[in-house]
Amino acid sequence: MEKVKIAVIGLGRLGMVHTDHLVNLIGDADVKAVCALDQEQLSYAKENFGVETYTDYKKMIDAEEIDAVAIVAPTGFHPEMTAYALKAGKHVFCEKPLGLEMDEVAEMSRQIQEHPKQVFQLGFMRRFDASYRHAKEIIDAGGIGEIIYIRAYGIDPISGMESFTKFATDNDSGGIFVDMCIHDIDLIRWYTGSDPVQTWSIGNNIAAPELEAINEFETGVANLRFENNMAATLIGGRHAAHGNQVEMEIMGSNGWIRIAQEPEKDFVTLFTDAGVVRPAMQSFSERFTEAFITELKDFIENVKNDRQSDISVEDGVKALQIAKACKESAETGQVIDIVL
Ligand SMILES: NC(=O)c1ccc[n+]([C@@H]2O[C@H](COP(=O)([O-])OP(=O)(O)OC[C@H]3O[C@@H](n4cnc5c(N)ncnc54)[C@H](O)[C@@H]3O)[C@@H](O)[C@H]2O)c1
Repeated sequence: MEKVKIAVIGLGRLGMVHTDHLVNLIGDADVKAVCALDQEQLSYAKENFGVETYTDYKKMIDAEEIDAVAIVAPTGFHPEMTAYALKAGKHVFCEKPLGLEMDEVAEMSRQIQEHPKQVFQLGFMRRFDASYRHAKEIIDAGGIGEIIYIRAYGIDPISGMESFTKFATDNDSGGIFVDMCIHDIDLIRWYTGSDPVQTWSIGNNIAAPELEAINEFETGVANLRFENNMAATLIGGRHAAHGNQVEMEIMGSNGWIRIAQEPEKDFVTLFTDAGVVRPAMQSFSERFTEAFITELKDFIENVKNDRQSDISVEDGVKALQIAKACKESAETGQVIDIVL
């Protein structure tokens, strides 16, 4: 296979970014078509990427000569779109999370297992970020001893609140734990090789009372306990005034790792009457550009080399179960046992 012929479903906040990367930066990918419901997005893609456009993903998969599909539509559609693409013989890249409902995700997982020769890759792109990978190498080499505690922040900038509110009004996002904290849940499972057994989580809308109306928590705090009493605290939110605040601290018996505690945009420091200012990154796509490109390159290489992704569907299922337990705890105020 010279180039992997691919179609993209979804051209929103992330789909347009993925399509741009596939068209302009990933030489072994050949984007044939895109599908979205929004005519403006489709016209933009046709004009700028020279691709066929569709509003019906099934028609696109049936009509186009493609090897693979990238699913970047809202989360609730991931199970049915994955199943359709797999049954049509296509390899699938699917954005996180796998889906919203456990029964749909169980069926999706069954479909994936029934098509072992087709690549299925889930978009946990932080595993491709250079800093998180470096941390993984240090941990695996015993560089900080036994992990005692992990603290993670994943807070979107307040400047993205409007587009998030639109997204969550039009679609079920799954809530702060399923939509946002799931990245850190995956990383913690990846770093520790273990799963939490219990959570006590809290949600609030102090910074964005308007989110009550769409049944969302702006801030979510998840406390997780592991079998050996290792603990983790995850904080997800959408209100950071300064920019995109994504950080993690891993405390070991023999040392600590801290990843990206300040979201500096670049090496510029401004010295003005406002003081000494380091401009901050303003979106997830800015912070994780390199990771988004590397994960799609990995997917294309996996397809070309008949190789399965290192991120298994089981990783996706367990991360979702844990995130849903956090949601249940925050909604009920109860400590929830996590049984995977
Ligand atoms: N990895 C990450 O960090 C990250 C970041 C953002 C979003 N995401 C994930 O990407 C997915 C999309 O999120 P987004 O923020 O880009 O959403 P969005 O609402 O901005 O865009 C959704 C796109 O899907 C299209 N669409 C909706 N329903 C469709 C259907 N039935 N058939 C075809 N197209 C349809 C819309 O027209 C739009 O183009 C979500 O699952 C989200 O969790 C992941």
